[in-house]
Amino acid sequence: MGSDEDALLAEQMAYYRAGAAQYDRPYAEREDLRELLATADDLPIAGDVLELACGTGRWTPMLAARARSVTAVDASAEVLALARARTKSPGVRFVQADLFEWQPPRRYDTVFFAFWLSHVPPARLPGFWSAVGAALAPGGRAVFIDDGPAGAAREEVLADQPAPAAVRRLDDGSRYRIVKVFHDARTLTDDLTALGWSVRVRPAAGNFIVGIAEPPAVPG
Ligand SMILES: C[S@@+](CC[C@H](N)C(=O)[O-])C[C@H]1O[C@@H](n2cnc3c(N)ncnc32)[C@H](O)[C@@H]1O
Repeated sequence: MGSDEDALLAEQMAYYRAGAAQYDRPYAEREDLRELLATADDLPIAGDVLELACGTGRWTPMLAARARSVTAVDASAEVLALARARTKSPGVRFVQADLFEWQPPRRYDTVFFAFWLSHVPPARLPGFWSAVGAALAPGGRAVFIDDGPAGAAREEVLADQPAPAAVRRLDDGSRYRIVKVFHDARTLTDDLTALGWSVRVRPAAGNFIVGIAEPPAVPG
């Protein structure tokens, strides 16, 4: 039988499937998101890139422009269809998979994830970082972008859920719970350092955080 947290994660997935057509709206409406996309030029994207939770592919063309190859994974066929339409580069391969189960078939020079870390329940974070580390080739880096703590002001935060959560509403009035953890740069840096990572997390474009992290050295 699935746990309450599994049910929350299933609802999160259902939200992004049902809301695919609405997904890009904040990118059109919010100046801070446009500014954030523009800052991405400074990120150390290189080699073969794995993009986790690529969504409608807002970041994928930027990755493709700088990578040898991009493997972009998302659970939702609906957002992947939009990402495919947006990303014409032949070096990009899209994969539909649940990231809580998917095993990468190889290792990558960069693992990139935008607005995904905040959707990972805290109890799964050590396993998540260990999977990211295992997906990185020697010398590889994780690069990530997410909402910072001030992002909470935009959300309808829910109490008493199996993980920190918020409610999102679609145009048809339907409502879905999602996991939403607002990481602050200091705590995230401390948590990753405790797991053996070398990490820099900085604020970006107002309320966002940008992190660049190298995994612990593998003994032997
Ligand atoms: C906030 S969006 C981020 C999309 C994109 N990275 C961006 O920054 O615009 C979160 C994405 O996670 C995907 N997602 C949700 N649960 C997932 C899961 N279990 N496995 C893979 N992708 C999942 C959703 O389909 C959605 O595209």
